[in-house]
Amino acid sequence: MSQLLDVVDLDKTLQDKSPQEILRYAIEQFGNIAISFSGAEDVILVDMAHKIDPDVEIFCLDTGRLHAQTYQFIEKVREHYDLYIDVVSPDGDAVRELVHEKGLFSFYKDNHQECCGVRKIAPLRKKLLTVDAWVTGQRKDQSPGTRGQIPVIQDDKVFARENDTLTKFNPLANWSSQQVWDYIRANQVPYNDLHDTGFVSIGCEPCTRPIGPGQHEREGRWWWEEATKKECGLHGSNINK
Ligand code: ADX
Ligand code: SF4
Repeated sequence: MSQLLDVVDLDKTLQDKSPQEILRYAIEQFGNIAISFSGAEDVILVDMAHKIDPDVEIFCLDTGRLHAQTYQFIEKVREHYDLYIDVVSPDGDAVRELVHEKGLFSFYKDNHQECCGVRKIAPLRKKLLTVDAWVTGQRKDQSPGTRGQIPVIQDDKVFARENDTLTKFNPLANWSSQQVWDYIRANQVPYNDLHDTGFVSIGCEPCTRPIGPGQHEREGRWWWEEATKKECGLHGSNINK
């Protein structure tokens, strides 16, 4: 059974803290915590957490559709920090059924929710059943439409076990993209090669594209859909239904 925290009060206190202080609090408060790493600039969470506790658990959702560069990058991070990364695969039968029924690019025709559901959300749900808290690299500046209000700590009602609580930390919530990249350069943190070729926000290969000058980073994701729908469900509570 997880601990009951007054997350609203705690959020007020943690809002002014640095990502490192928030991460330290999260790791010390929860023994059973995991960091979700997408293979993009959220690598700074891995760097920060590794400096606090080298044994902290890291996981990636391998949708089977990531860029080759992202797989290479995940491996580079694993070797660089000498750590175990839990690379979580989707259920093979569920993927097979989806592809059998709708083909390999159904998301271009009837939006990304179904494919994300099979390749990301279901595996995430399974993973989160095993922990009391999780950490994400979400930031407010990533999407003013859906992430402008994200707290630093929140009660994750979407993925909590039945009759239990799950705490979600977003230590980078108040950091800007500039601060993230300043950290990467100052600390010589390895980063995904795709960032050098115009990719800013990175997800699956068929659903991510580089952006041009002046475009918002989210315009490179699911570009054929409306801006307010650009959440895949990993962070379901960001969307007001
Ligand atoms: S998404 O919901 O649109 O795909 P985004 O790419 O902005 O999310 O990433 C925000 C945070 O969600 C990441 O910092 C990470 O914590 C988590 N996340 C996204 N994709 C993955 C993934 N494939 N594996 C693990 N965590 C992920
Ligand atoms: Fe499928 Fe695209 Fe979602 Fe990846 S981002 S799981 S390819 S719809």
